[in-house]
Amino acid sequence: MAILKIARMGHPVLGRRAEPVADPTTPAISRLLADMAETMADAGGVGLAAPQVHVPLRIVLFCVPEARCTGSDDANGPLPLTCLINPEIEPLGDEIEDGWEACLSVPGLTGLVPRFTRIRYRGLTPVGGELMREASGFHARVVQHECDHLDGVLYPRRMRDLSNLGFVEEMQRARAQ
Ligand code: NI
Repeated sequence: MAILKIARMGHPVLGRRAEPVADPTTPAISRLLADMAETMADAGGVGLAAPQVHVPLRIVLFCVPEARCTGSDDANGPLPLTCLINPEIEPLGDEIEDGWEACLSVPGLTGLVPRFTRIRYRGLTPVGGELMREASGFHARVVQHECDHLDGVLYPRRMRDLSNLGFVEEMQRARAQ
């Protein structure tokens, strides 16, 4: 396993559409997933997409830690590390909510981003099975954020008001006052 270098905003790999994975069960893909998991844990993130480690493939990893849960049922409760290959997202309803996001490729910054409140997502698992889940709240948010990476979209592009983009330290200080 290895900790991989994370691409930062401005690197072309983050602005491109990633390619579908032909076979999720190859040793090369399982090695990549292990390295991505280690990289995400090392960086303290809750999600990571393959383009963020300079691999232009449609692969995302994410989890929902207890502290970030917005509810307690299956859709928005805690979620262990999940790997999704060639994911697809379908909004459930048109309700949208704002929430604060950060990204390992945009270090130090945070912004208020509108996302669909409820989604259904599906994709392949590393053993070649299919996974389909409904998600809401933070769970839905992290999946939408990670899947955006596969289409070359970073969260600032989703923001409606860039005055809500700032450095984490400054925003926390301002909110504490
Ligand atoms: Ni990100």
